[in-house]
Amino acid sequence: MSGDSGKNELLELTRQLKNAVETAQLFGEDVLKPAQNDQDKNKKLEELYRKYDGCLMCPLSEGRVKIVFGVGSVDLKVLFVGEGPGYDEDKQGFPFVGKAGQLLDKIMQSIGLDRKTNAYIANIVKCHPMTDPTKPEMRGNDRAPQPSEILACKEILDQQIEILDPPLICVLGATAARAMLNSSEGITALRGRLFDFKFPKSGKTVPLLPTYHPAALLRNELLKKDVWQDMKLLRTLF
Ligand code: URA
Repeated sequence: MSGDSGKNELLELTRQLKNAVETAQLFGEDVLKPAQNDQDKNKKLEELYRKYDGCLMCPLSEGRVKIVFGVGSVDLKVLFVGEGPGYDEDKQGFPFVGKAGQLLDKIMQSIGLDRKTNAYIANIVKCHPMTDPTKPEMRGNDRAPQPSEILACKEILDQQIEILDPPLICVLGATAARAMLNSSEGITALRGRLFDFKFPKSGKTVPLLPTYHPAALLRNELLKKDVWQDMKLLRTLF
């Protein structure tokens, strides 16, 4: 294809696209609105991130290398919520990038979800909970977040939920499930059950499904069949 014919083809495609948009608008379809909505969501998330980048609201800030805000598509079918960043996430600044994250990607893929296109991933706390916060360079220095740390960080997740407006939420593991559901039950009792989750600010209600954390699957392969069952249930909801 010569440079001129390529350029003409592009001009023709642009003309056709413009026509299609104008025709749809003539019939009352605002086809540009979803893109605008996505832009608004991305802008609000960016503002939220800037507001809390450098957050000192709880002791987790002492040892952290990077805030792990969240990652994914704002045009989401499911919001996944994990516990908190680990060593790899703390270094890279993104959730679920270590071994458990690679498994989470495979689990999502098995039901047609992908963090790049139609799912978003966040955690209940945004900084790495460490046993010894003076040693962020040490692997295996992980612990579960304390209730006070979860509470201090709650405002960020609450706002993320309002901005993202997820139609469906899947929580990963006992700590995240208990925090999201305000429950003291174990994950074995909670997983596989659908709950109504009320958005903390607007009060909107969407289904929430707890399942095992991918790190638990790495420790115990036998849990995989339960997670597969949960994913099949999740898939029926989007
Ligand atoms: N485990 C989590 O709960 N979240 C992460 O981001 C990584 C591991």
